[in-house]
Amino acid sequence: MVHYLENVIPLEDCEKITQLVMDFMCNTPHRVEYSAYGAPNSVGVGTDAIPECNIWLYELKSKMEELVGFKLDTVNTYCREYSNGSSLDKHTDRNDIGVTLSVCIENPSNIEWPICSKDYDGSTICKDIKVGDGLLIYNANELEHWRDELVCGGDDYVFMMFLHWSKQKTDE
Ligand SMILES: [Fe+2]
Repeated sequence: MVHYLENVIPLEDCEKITQLVMDFMCNTPHRVEYSAYGAPNSVGVGTDAIPECNIWLYELKSKMEELVGFKLDTVNTYCREYSNGSSLDKHTDRNDIGVTLSVCIENPSNIEWPICSKDYDGSTICKDIKVGDGLLIYNANELEHWRDELVCGGDDYVFMMFLHWSKQKTDE
């Protein structure tokens, strides 16, 4: 199941989060990861140490529960900066992060770079996520999703934050 959600995180918060995560990457280079899920030309970092990221796991939890129809446990947050030549191989997520909200937190040049996902009826949904908006993929551990190659200027980039929840264990 795929849902496009407008204005999930206010723009001023997106800006603040981007700055905090960029600083965090500079200050803790050993935590930076370069190729998760086969995403070349991108850098990512787990952001559990940044409260300004994690707060959204709690702020948005009940809204996500309404959409997926069951109770959720918070899992973690992750941010990744994509630049020219980046892409995202077709993949499914790990089982423990089955509910993923991908939020665009910065895109200075308004580059269009859709993320595509299969849905259960076999259809493919492709959405360009605007800054402050998010794409909820529920059962991202079962539904393949991907992005084609990002073609942009050398200084351009797209910054994403991923919020991960899982189905609450007591709800099974
Ligand atoms: Fe994924």
